[in-house]
Amino acid sequence: LPSTLIDSFQRRVNYVRLSVTDRCDFRCVYCMAEEMTFAPKADVLSLEELYQVAHAFTQLGVTKIRLTGGEPLIRSNVMSLVERMGQLPGLEQLALTTNGSQLQRLSPALRNAGVKRVNISLDSLSARKFRQLTRHGNLDQVIAGIDAAVAAGFPGVKINAVILKGRNEDEAVDLVNFAVDRGVDIAFIEEMPLGLIDDHDRALTFCSSDELRSILAPHFQLMPQADPDGHSGPARYYVIPGSSTRVGFISPHSHNFCHLCNRVRVTAEGRLLLCLGDEHSVDLRAVLRAPDYSMEKLQRTIVEAMGIKPERHYFDNGQQPQILRFMNTTGG
Ligand code: GTP
Ligand code: 5AD
Ligand code: SF4
Repeated sequence: LPSTLIDSFQRRVNYVRLSVTDRCDFRCVYCMAEEMTFAPKADVLSLEELYQVAHAFTQLGVTKIRLTGGEPLIRSNVMSLVERMGQLPGLEQLALTTNGSQLQRLSPALRNAGVKRVNISLDSLSARKFRQLTRHGNLDQVIAGIDAAVAAGFPGVKINAVILKGRNEDEAVDLVNFAVDRGVDIAFIEEMPLGLIDDHDRALTFCSSDELRSILAPHFQLMPQADPDGHSGPARYYVIPGSSTRVGFISPHSHNFCHLCNRVRVTAEGRLLLCLGDEHSVDLRAVLRAPDYSMEKLQRTIVEAMGIKPERHYFDNGQQPQILRFMNTTGG
């Protein structure tokens, strides 16, 4: 078995986004429909299976794992998984993407378990709008969660804001100020066409990163940050002189970064997804649950899957067939 994962376009895969549950306590309008059905519990990987997957990837040279969901922190006993993963040899960065609802309670334990980076969604600073966008979220609880994460001293805290035209682009300046006040990073995200949502027409609410940058320009001096290794991921970052905050733009439509892609995803049901915008996948759960399961078989399956990682995604608001799976089953 190789000690690194390389796909057929010579890209090195060293980053896995692992969804630990497709369930969520929020129903963000760009991510989910109001009424969702979630995977039956028996179909979702057990904590032990998730650990096996993480272990297999780290042995294949993966150095960064980001736990995602749904909302990863509402999975019961998730901390036992995080604690075990924090000890995995070779795993340099254990990261988490969360809606923040549980962070007040869990930040210290996450930090102690070795989580390095925490990304938290925050789309609005108005309680009313926050509730409209998340349907079930409570703004005060999330802000308290962000403050708890800052207090816990994670090496990296980042705010994620999905911007929808006519809904929250007028809050971009306030959101940057919020991040600057706390000394954390912020990334603005173009909405991606995953899942059939019922709340808005994505073509009409699309707000490009360039447009957003021109909204911010009169208020902040945004200095492009050189990307030292060309692998900082999907976000293009700017620094604000005199602050420690970086402002990122994740632009799957206007600036895709597929040629630098270094990541794969594993869904809560154990499907290894080779690209966010594509259905190419391999069923790891079948390997994990086969009577002749072995760590070596799991690793071999992963190595072979690299051969079908597509060159790029073809997102397009409307004209192309949509990806029917929702973001919560994809792990962001
Ligand atoms: P890093 O792990 O530090 O690179 O953070 P991140 O910004 O990639 O992760 P996060 O979980 O905060 O995701 C923020 C947004 O980036 C989400 O909307 C993701 O769907 C999007 N994103 C992450 N990976 C990819 C990708 O491979 N392709 C595209 N188009 N978007 C991605
Ligand atoms: N497009 C872009 N970003 C999305 N997220 C959820 N659904 C979408 C979508 N359709 C974001 C969340 C979270 C991150 C993991 O993905 O806001 O910050
Ligand atoms: Fe939950 Fe995140 Fe989706 Fe919102 S974007 S519904 S918080 S998984």
